[in-house]
Amino acid sequence: MVALADQAQKRLTIQTAEIAPDTTVIRSLDWERDRFDIEFGLQNGTTYNGYIIQGDQLAIVDTSHRKFEQLYLDALKGKIDPAQINYIVVSHTEPDHSGLVKDVLALAPEAVVVGSKVAIQFLEGFIHQKFQRQIVKSGDKLDLGKGHVLEFVNAPNLHWPDTILTYDWGTQLLYTCDVFGLHYCSDHLFDVHLGAIAPDYRFYYDCLMGPNARSVLAALKRMENLGEVAMVANGHGPLLRHNTHELIERYRTWSQEQTKGETVVAVFYTSGYGDSDRLSQALAHGITKTGVAVEMMDLLGADQQEVRELAERAVGLVIGMPPTSGDNATETATSLSTILASVSDKQVVGLFESYGGNDEPIDPLLTKFRNLGVSVAFPSIRIKANPDEALYQLCDEAGTDLGQLLNREQNIKKRKSVDSDLDKAIGRISGGLYIITAQKSEVNGAMLASWVSQASFEPLGLSIAVAKDRAIESLMQVGDRFVLNILEEGNYQHLMKHFLKRFKPGQDRFEGVETRQATNGAPILAEALAYLECEVVSRMDVPDHWIVYSEVQDGRVAKTDSLTAVHHRKVGNYY
Ligand code: FEO
Repeated sequence: MVALADQAQKRLTIQTAEIAPDTTVIRSLDWERDRFDIEFGLQNGTTYNGYIIQGDQLAIVDTSHRKFEQLYLDALKGKIDPAQINYIVVSHTEPDHSGLVKDVLALAPEAVVVGSKVAIQFLEGFIHQKFQRQIVKSGDKLDLGKGHVLEFVNAPNLHWPDTILTYDWGTQLLYTCDVFGLHYCSDHLFDVHLGAIAPDYRFYYDCLMGPNARSVLAALKRMENLGEVAMVANGHGPLLRHNTHELIERYRTWSQEQTKGETVVAVFYTSGYGDSDRLSQALAHGITKTGVAVEMMDLLGADQQEVRELAERAVGLVIGMPPTSGDNATETATSLSTILASVSDKQVVGLFESYGGNDEPIDPLLTKFRNLGVSVAFPSIRIKANPDEALYQLCDEAGTDLGQLLNREQNIKKRKSVDSDLDKAIGRISGGLYIITAQKSEVNGAMLASWVSQASFEPLGLSIAVAKDRAIESLMQVGDRFVLNILEEGNYQHLMKHFLKRFKPGQDRFEGVETRQATNGAPILAEALAYLECEVVSRMDVPDHWIVYSEVQDGRVAKTDSLTAVHHRKVGNYY
């Protein structure tokens, strides 16, 4: 009871601290948030960090999520008189950071909202009131007095087109909002335990920044014009003070890895229109899981020469349907025409609806691509209701399908070219045959596995190697539960055949297969020889797999006198 009461009290809390001269952070701690739209495997909650800078002029940088309305405004009033605020810097307009801008403006109606051109446009769309604004771009400065000269850096596509970074020359703090953030809620204000936060930092990068790796590198380049960064004052997680340089440089290393491949898929979307941004991010995430690089481009405000160059260079194209009417329709239609004029019959394409109300219809556009000889990578994604977790998973899987399609030929060539003694020797490592099954909200998944091994006695634990481009990987984050179904020797072929076939993105993996529900919610295959209910404890990142260590919580054997099916391979360079 006490624990529950404690938990209830911990659900939403606030933390304020002086982090530099004249500088205060207000951290809204959301202890139990377990999903975001794209990075829906949150295990450690998250925080929304906003800041106050008290020069001769008073500025705040970002606010908080609406769910913290009272807590945040009380904390703000505890530090300053909001009526005195001169500037509200909006780094990015997603509601977890700008959800309370309207409330602050009500207290400080004369405050000037500072943001990128796109951010100000987005804000106009959801604030619906007049406000003073100052549009800034890279190199622009704002002198607050007392040495606090703010310099701005445009960072489009990290992860939205509206993002700016703000550097305070007085304190050497860099305010970054989503960039260099992580979903990790703890009482620690700073990055005191690098080992504890590193997996979440990487996961966050992979979900939000990896698909925009070129934009990350461009932003890092622009940051070179700033001074030394003493601390990253981010929008999520602990502030980066102890490992500032190391964690910034990890973005550079990971982004360089992402962009070194020559195979690039272009993802075209329309910023601020319907759900185009979020859906395109989920698709991009799925593509990058296969090791294929993504370049995202906003059809709004795009230079036609750049659209043409990217559409010609990319081996695959994903396009979110732009609007057919409204202020931006002519501009996005021009970009679509440019894409159509640039593609060739060597490319593949995939289309998705933006759920904006008046989307360009999919079928006529698809016909145009087909007539140009362009292959279709995945069934067009049509949206009938508000996007939910299942839809984001479908987009992720569609992206992965596209990436795998592009990799297939290359992989076959690679496999054929390798036939060394070493590969034959590794091939003599045998494994059992298993099917992993998982269910998370309305999303389910299954995967045939043979790289499974017991790894601990007390508590009982096992390790499984899961290829990074497997759809089920997103259902095997730390804390997730699944079932390991152990297949029976001589009685596994039809199950193996079923689960080896290619499923369409979002397709129910269990249609036509008899299952029952395990205590942990995952499906148990009725024909399995035995099953184990497991919970993921940790994951190790190896080049093309995740090593997933899980504790075993329950299990049963159906036939005690039967043996486990065994998988023998000839070579070790593929399954
Ligand atoms: Fe943390 Fe993109 O908002």
